[in-house]
Amino acid sequence: MMTNKTADALLFFRAWLSAPLRVASVTPSGRALSSLMTAEISAKTGTVIELGPGTGVFTEALLQQGVAEENLVLIEYGEDFAAELSLRFPTARTIQMDAAKLRKLPLQPSAPVGAVVSGLPLLSMPIRKVHAILEGAFSHLRHNGAFYQFTYGPRCPIARPLLDRLGLKAKYIGYTLANIPPAAVYRISRRRPRRVSDRTHQDLSF
Ligand SMILES: C[S@@+](CC[C@H](N)C(=O)[O-])C[C@H]1O[C@@H](n2cnc3c(N)ncnc32)[C@H](O)[C@@H]1O
Repeated sequence: MMTNKTADALLFFRAWLSAPLRVASVTPSGRALSSLMTAEISAKTGTVIELGPGTGVFTEALLQQGVAEENLVLIEYGEDFAAELSLRFPTARTIQMDAAKLRKLPLQPSAPVGAVVSGLPLLSMPIRKVHAILEGAFSHLRHNGAFYQFTYGPRCPIARPLLDRLGLKAKYIGYTLANIPPAAVYRISRRRPRRVSDRTHQDLSF
């Protein structure tokens, strides 16, 4: 009999065959990367939006971190992945849509979003799309909320000029070799606005 892990690996591989750029990996992320992606998240985070959950490896890790299933919003473009996520996480809100349209997604204002966990392949997306995804995510995130992103590349997958334009900063969280391929995780958050006392004399003179 086929185990869940084997079935997931097959589902993932088939999705990659039909849309290699969108799926961007031949196999789901492993346990070590899932732990790194969710390490700073807990039940206190409140609502969590996950972008590109695939077969739900980060979703499982979020539940293990104490996030309630009903506090999860799962945004997945792939039809087969979205159908499987709805079955597997019935009380989470699974929406089959393009994450670039996140800004228009109506969410309950009573449940401010504490974190966005992204498994999206940002490096294979045009910059305009990455811009729309980040803008949408931060339109829902509460002030001190954070966006977590992994990458197989050697640096943060969001270019510095785009971070500057959106008033965001990136912090390296860690790296794991125990993933195929090895991956790094970054936390993207809002920059703290400068206090008046931080400004130079020149800033204040007219
Ligand atoms: C690299 S896989 C990561 C899957 C899973 N998070 C993991 O780590 O195993 C990328 C996922 O993002 C989804 N995806 C890609 N582009 C998307 C988009 N524009 N909107 C929503 N989901 C997207 C893919 O269908 C796939 O599930």
